[in-house]
Amino acid sequence: MEIRKPSPLKGEITVPGDKSISHRAVMFGALAKGTTEITNFLQGADCLSTIACFQKLGIGIENTPERILVHGRGLHGLTAPCDILDTGNSGTTTRLLAGILCGQKFESVLNGDASIQSRPMKRILDPLEQMGADIVSLKGNGCAPLRINGNRFCQSCTPYSMQELSELPGAVLSGIHYNSPVASAQVKSCVLLAGMYADSPTSVTEPQLSRNHTELMLSGFGADIRTEGLTATILPDPDLHGMQIEVPGDISSAAYFIAAALMVPGSEILIKNVGVNPTRDGILRVVRDMGGEVALLDQKTSGGEPTADLLVTYRELHGTEIGGDIIPTLIDELPVLAVLACTAKGTTVIRDAQELKVKESDRIAVMAQNLAAMGARVTATDDGMIIEGGHPLNGAVIDSHKDHRVAMSFAIAALAAQGDTRILDADCVNISYPDFYETLRRLCAGAIE
Ligand code: S3P
Repeated sequence: MEIRKPSPLKGEITVPGDKSISHRAVMFGALAKGTTEITNFLQGADCLSTIACFQKLGIGIENTPERILVHGRGLHGLTAPCDILDTGNSGTTTRLLAGILCGQKFESVLNGDASIQSRPMKRILDPLEQMGADIVSLKGNGCAPLRINGNRFCQSCTPYSMQELSELPGAVLSGIHYNSPVASAQVKSCVLLAGMYADSPTSVTEPQLSRNHTELMLSGFGADIRTEGLTATILPDPDLHGMQIEVPGDISSAAYFIAAALMVPGSEILIKNVGVNPTRDGILRVVRDMGGEVALLDQKTSGGEPTADLLVTYRELHGTEIGGDIIPTLIDELPVLAVLACTAKGTTVIRDAQELKVKESDRIAVMAQNLAAMGARVTATDDGMIIEGGHPLNGAVIDSHKDHRVAMSFAIAALAAQGDTRILDADCVNISYPDFYETLRRLCAGAIE
């Protein structure tokens, strides 16, 4: 993929459905009684991994371009898979599904690609073990593959017959109160989902508030789930009922075009129907803080999730400080914000973002290396980056490390650079945004080959 400087970006675009919400809609629909209809589902590789896993768990799922139909079988309706569950590149599939599988009465193995096999799973193993789950990292390194023995009865020593075992209600876990050391929606959701199979309420307190899509959507499906400050609590054995879900556009995908319009002088674009949940909208707060203009038009709420059309108008930006409680609300947008900071005047400091090191790649190291290759003045720190903005960027060869957000961030950086930029493994954008280059091409005619 080769990209060069464009003329101003003008026009109206839509972005694909939210990745986090798409995953959850399939998962919760599978555990509900009746059919769940999902529109604007993200047809990216990560969400397709979730669909494939639930199909292996006995759930009928019809995937058409207009809608997804999930024929849920209730909380105890999943059936034993006859194969390893392949979660691909998806941390959300791996961690949320692990929580669900700990409550089943069959054994299962979760595994994914090389990136998934190096991402930390101890963060879910710890609370799940506290709940009494039998889950192990098969290589003993705290990573996938994970084996989950939902049944907790060894078949050779159990006093029960196979018939009696099949009639047991599922693995009964113990409800816990978990103080999570990380603000991670994947950890929080994993524990809350396991909590549906527990003998008493389960709650999770996090150090800062992470995205709350699980809490909002599970409550819509009929679960008794409450949030007080930084603590979310779920009552066990909910009766979940199928529902209709319209997935809002993904603000994490909109982020690339927000940044592009704020980098290319004279640009003005309208991004329709974007999810602006306050646990996800940190990017809007930061770009405004940098002097950018983003107006929220036609604000609505659908399934508890606020949405708006975003009108983004080019402005000259200045550097800023990004740290503290805002970090979980923009964690996936930090790579493209780092790019934006290179084009803003003055210094931008990103701190408290050590979680970037355990994403699809080490996003602190990979962003700093590639930005430096373009001539940016960037220092990688232990928990973020320091960027001296306002210096010209040059085209370069970018190693995306097969990380979709790195590839898309550098496609945007290329728009501000002198000379051509080449992105290696550029097709990894399929993970979250299969049409990314088409949309970029449409907005920046002539800039992409
Ligand atoms: C996600 C949570 C975040 C985010 C990821 C999606 C989710 O991860 O980075 O892309 O859907 O819950 P963490 O929970 O690890 O912060």
